[in-house]
Amino acid sequence: VTFDVAADAYQRFMGRYADPLAQLVLGEVRPHPPQRALDVGAGPGALTAPLVAILGADAVAAIDPSASFVDALRERVPGVDVRLGRAEDLPFPDGGFDLALSQLVVHFMSDPVRGLAEMARVTRPGGIVAATAWDFGGDRSPLALFWSAARDLDPNAGDESELPGARAGHLAELFTAAGLHDVRSGELTVAVPYDDPDTWWQPYTLGVGPVGEYVATLDEPRREALRARCMELLGPGPGVIEATAWFVMATSPPQPR
Ligand SMILES: C[S@@+](CC[C@H](N)C(=O)[O-])C[C@H]1O[C@@H](n2cnc3c(N)ncnc32)[C@H](O)[C@@H]1O
Repeated sequence: VTFDVAADAYQRFMGRYADPLAQLVLGEVRPHPPQRALDVGAGPGALTAPLVAILGADAVAAIDPSASFVDALRERVPGVDVRLGRAEDLPFPDGGFDLALSQLVVHFMSDPVRGLAEMARVTRPGGIVAATAWDFGGDRSPLALFWSAARDLDPNAGDESELPGARAGHLAELFTAAGLHDVRSGELTVAVPYDDPDTWWQPYTLGVGPVGEYVATLDEPRREALRARCMELLGPGPGVIEATAWFVMATSPPQPR
């Protein structure tokens, strides 16, 4: 999956949903000084930036495998320890954080159980590990209308519902498999306005994530047909996109001796 795109393309495509989702995550996790937090798969910083506002730059670290996002994040949150790397191999010592959070990332991990186990490892025993994943399985992601239109025209269009953590109950299963304790699940819903159908569509052409990869495979007539089908489903407009993510929060277990 490609996230080798400019941070502003990501911001227009997904940041518009990730920013309000981050506020809901923080409302559940309630970080407070002097806690130390790690943002895993931070992207351009939807969760990192508000964590810094609450805890201070010295108390926050972030990691992402996309070099363009890491560069953008370093500029956005000076003083934060921002690393290039993957959840599955976190370059941090055991138990150094009170909180390890990961927003909209578990579905892209090549080994989600290992990624979550790594988040548990770097969190002190009794600290919090939490993650969100869009409900692709229940067609409640912000991309649901797009994938529905794509499937109308091409039954083989993937819709991300098979990704790890993206169907009911699966994110919590992954947490349990990773050895986390006291696994609690819920859902978080954002409502994001858009001005008109064209501004809604434009970010789908920017090459971000599985949607961007799919659109890039289409020749011009098929892309135009997909855009037209999206417009039919969307209706005229300004409007509001509602999207729901699975939210799982758990406790880091005692470290093995
Ligand atoms: C949908 S974005 C979410 C970014 C950010 N957390 C947010 O809420 O806007 C998914 C992010 O996961 C990152 N990612 C992909 N595979 C990863 C992995 N194995 N470990 C950590 N991050 C990963 C991508 O580079 C991308 O920044």
